[in-house]
Amino acid sequence: MKTRSPRRLVIVSARAPFVSTPNGIVRAPGGLISALLPLMRRARGTWIATGADHDACDTSELPFRVRALSIPSSMRAAWYAGASNGALWPLAHGFVEVCRFQAEQTRAYLDVCRAAADAAAENAPPGAIVWIHDYQLALVPALLRARRPDLTIGFFWHIPWPAAESLRVLPWASELIEGLLGADLVGLHVPRYVRAFRDALDELGITHTSDGGSIVVPRGSRAARIEAWPIGIDVEGWAKLGRDEDVAAEAARIRADLGGGRVLLAVDRMDYAKGIAERLEAFERLLEQSAEARERVTFVQIGVPSRETVPAYRELRQRIEAAVGRIQGRFGALRRKPVHLFARSFESTELAAYYLAADAALVTPRRDGMNLVAFEYVATRPRPNGRLLLSTTAGAADVMPEAHLVNPYDDEGLVSAIEHVALAPETPGDAARMDALKARVSRLSVEGWASDFLARLSQVTDERVASRAT
Ligand code: G6P
Repeated sequence: MKTRSPRRLVIVSARAPFVSTPNGIVRAPGGLISALLPLMRRARGTWIATGADHDACDTSELPFRVRALSIPSSMRAAWYAGASNGALWPLAHGFVEVCRFQAEQTRAYLDVCRAAADAAAENAPPGAIVWIHDYQLALVPALLRARRPDLTIGFFWHIPWPAAESLRVLPWASELIEGLLGADLVGLHVPRYVRAFRDALDELGITHTSDGGSIVVPRGSRAARIEAWPIGIDVEGWAKLGRDEDVAAEAARIRADLGGGRVLLAVDRMDYAKGIAERLEAFERLLEQSAEARERVTFVQIGVPSRETVPAYRELRQRIEAAVGRIQGRFGALRRKPVHLFARSFESTELAAYYLAADAALVTPRRDGMNLVAFEYVATRPRPNGRLLLSTTAGAADVMPEAHLVNPYDDEGLVSAIEHVALAPETPGDAARMDALKARVSRLSVEGWASDFLARLSQVTDERVASRAT
């Protein structure tokens, strides 16, 4: 699709593009931010962030504005730790038992969405494009539409779309859907989620039609479209790190430090949806069963601490640390540590060295919207070697069918899949898989994703205006 840079753009997200650190204000981590920044620079627009810290929003140096909303801390906590990460996140990831629905948190969620819609309405020039991001802000599209019908509104839902059965337990399911339908275009990662969205519309009795892969929901004189737009990564950036001599030297040091055996790697935010504890438990069972694994395999888990104000996350961290301690106690020796846990975030150069050092990446979330680590591992490695173990329940599995796929809920299946990627002799089939994966990942660039989504958004709205004129 032809890309064009949007002229008037407002982005609304929970996270700001910059964060303040002890070393000053730096760009926030993550591919999404790197994809949106150049667009924003060109568009000279406004970035509205609801969960940002104010210090990081002094953007006098920048060609666009960043506005951090002043949200009282108790409201922010009820919105972020409560409704967003204590209700919507577990719901979308199939952890219904973890969900807590509390009226006060729902009110805070609505209030934060209102504040974001107000700020977008104030900052958007006539006819501007507003692109809203993720489950923390799902009510913004309809609220903004009511304030500013002239705007073109896009929304991207970055996590799985919940099954209709799960959605039934959300007391405000219909408000959630109506909120999203305020957008002209709602993006989800893969067609599977679009089908689940259609099921939700059916459950709620909302009329819709299909147009190719997209769902069209008439809303008065306009329509909302729901489509699959798989996100990607900065493919060339990761590939460049993978070719860097210093990174390669660091990778060699890591391998030597780990004793020269087979290296397994996992990289996740410490989130129960990522299946970290279950993966460690599966690795422990592998060590119980296989003398070869005990001798030759080391597992490195990078776990970035996350959302520690939410009880389920604090409990998870304890479970992870307990599993690592237990494995170490049972199978470790003076000079041999079967598992390493790094509970901190890594710079991308450091991460790239681990991607190069690893014989296999274990990407085995219980559920995941997409999972960019799977892409990064493949993109960083200069040669078609290494193995990717990937959950069937991650969105990435839909776009990476050549990975070693595993059902993360199948205990024995997970142990044998880890054993296979760790220890099975390499065959020409492995290189063919990796070549195919590389080709797939290189077609999924995050910059292309962002500009194509925006181009599609403009197209959808142009069509609407044209059909009204005829
Ligand atoms: C996921 C979500 C993002 C979120 C990120 C980090 O990728 O889709 O919206 O920003 O996790 O979570 P946090 O709660 O730290 O923003």
